[in-house]
Amino acid sequence: MKLSKTVLDALFDKAGKTMQNSYSPYSKFKVGAAVLTKSGHIYGGTNIENASYGMTLCAERNAIFAAVCNGEREFDALVIVFKQKDLGPLSTPCGACRQVMSEFCSPEMPIYTADLSTGRPQRVMKKKLKDYIPCPFSPAALLKKPAQKK
Ligand code: THU
Repeated sequence: MKLSKTVLDALFDKAGKTMQNSYSPYSKFKVGAAVLTKSGHIYGGTNIENASYGMTLCAERNAIFAAVCNGEREFDALVIVFKQKDLGPLSTPCGACRQVMSEFCSPEMPIYTADLSTGRPQRVMKKKLKDYIPCPFSPAALLKKPAQKK
């Protein structure tokens, strides 16, 4: 599925706007995400930290969970933006988020990452989910096999 420039721009816009709500007083590292559902809707997410650090939830998971809370379980694209000026190599999604993505998204789904510290996407990188997590723990492992014919 080829994304139009309009839709891609809308995804970056939503990720960037949602990033402004990042609650990251501890890391001071702002992340925004936006997912496109198969039905054409866009949901945003941002990272929300906690004084008990382990309770922190990443932007990508918040975006996907917001969509799922609204009845969406199928996705066509994900955009993740970081405020990374002066910080090392461009970030990629963490392992926990990759596993959550693999629950709902096809291995072929495109994931765009970019630095948004200047206000417009820079260092844009596009990869497929399967490049980030080639061998996920699959929901299929927990499903019963179809009954065998006798
Ligand atoms: N973070 C994300 O939101 N997404 C990622 O893919 C990597 C990390 C957040 C979690 C935490 O609030 C901050 O970035 C630093 O780890």
